[in-house]
Amino acid sequence: MVTPVNELDLPEVDFSFADAPEQRDRLTKLASEHWLVRGALGYPIFRYEDCVAILRDKRWHSAASLAADLMGGSDPRLRERRRESILSAEGDVHTRLRRLVAPSFSPRSADALRPFMREVVTGLVDRVAPSGRCDLVADVCDPYPIPIICELLGAPKDDWELFSRWAEDVLRVFNATAADEVDRIVQAQIELEEYTRGLIADRRNKPADDLITSLIAAEEAGDKLNEDELVMMVQAVIVGGTDTTRNQLGCSVALFADHPDQWQLLADRPELAPRAVEETMRHFGAVRATGRFASEDIEYKGVLFPKGTLVMPSLALANRDSSVFAEPDRFDITREPSGQPQMTFGSGIHYCLGAALARAEQQEALPILARRMPNLRVDGDITWKPSTVAIFGPEKLPLRFDPN
Ligand code: HEM
Repeated sequence: MVTPVNELDLPEVDFSFADAPEQRDRLTKLASEHWLVRGALGYPIFRYEDCVAILRDKRWHSAASLAADLMGGSDPRLRERRRESILSAEGDVHTRLRRLVAPSFSPRSADALRPFMREVVTGLVDRVAPSGRCDLVADVCDPYPIPIICELLGAPKDDWELFSRWAEDVLRVFNATAADEVDRIVQAQIELEEYTRGLIADRRNKPADDLITSLIAAEEAGDKLNEDELVMMVQAVIVGGTDTTRNQLGCSVALFADHPDQWQLLADRPELAPRAVEETMRHFGAVRATGRFASEDIEYKGVLFPKGTLVMPSLALANRDSSVFAEPDRFDITREPSGQPQMTFGSGIHYCLGAALARAEQQEALPILARRMPNLRVDGDITWKPSTVAIFGPEKLPLRFDPN
């Protein structure tokens, strides 16, 4: 028998995007009792198996295209500027885009940036190491991804600060408070678009060894990205590749500060970095949930989700699913791979395009920080972002460690 989802008697939770730290235990308990609950925006999906099934089922479409409407109310300025991006595209349009751009995001091109990543992190940590204290967010996490994205794209150093601000402001459209920030979001969208068009024009005249040149040249069977698609891809990299990276680093270091033995282990054995990154992202991922809507009536596990129904696969709770990860609440950077990947990069056709780059960034940063911040401890209170944000992490992470 198939029951329409709105007729089910489901527990209700106050869950929009992120799970606030104080509600985590309650949600974990709920997740062990129910695979489906009713949330503030849609239906949160808690279990690994269901999150993967939904993210891999092409009838469930990305809710990214709805963000402006969902979060920004009906503000016409956001609607007007709504563009299709790789994150919101579906079906053949998405397949074509992904096929054209994927080679530019290979692990090999990410690996080429590793020495530069080490140089950036070392430069940032050099400034705070002698004093033995810092706000990791302001001193390391915020600045870290910008030079890397600029180097990847081939954007001039002088523009780094602009990038940082645009990336942050454009992403506000995914926050539950977007309606109050429309001016700021629209302004950043306009400036970023203008800037991107300039960068592309530059590279058409003067090709270089960078991502923009590679995207301009990307071709398959005579098919190429057009100008608007190029702009969209460059923006997807700027927007998708900065706030995610900095928040993930913040979440990961906050987690290590609670587990000094693991921090010491990483300092002593930097070769554990790849496993440490998977484990920190599993245990404490910066993207806590994503959204999908039913593009048609969908039946799943005896439940009918009518066309238009919104579900929120909780990547964070899927990452703690005990049927996939043994003792899921234990943080252990030597953990053997379970055979199933951690979910913080998503799953299915929208799986993070920048995953190789993001992995490299975390794998390079964490062992350097572990070595240069010995005897790490939290110095005061951590301020967390509100749980209404799509990308979660610390706003302030005051730390102390042995000066060096
Ligand atoms: C630790 C850092 C990162 C995390 C946690 C992360 C997480 C994610 C997640 C969960 C998705 C899928 C969203 C969904 O299915 O609704 C995604 C997609 C995407 N990410 Fe990342 N990301 C990170 C870094 C990056 C970087 C560095 C880049 C760019 C260089 C990037 C570019 C993208 C793009 C373009 C997509 C859309 C792919 C598509 O729709 O086909 N991300 N990311």
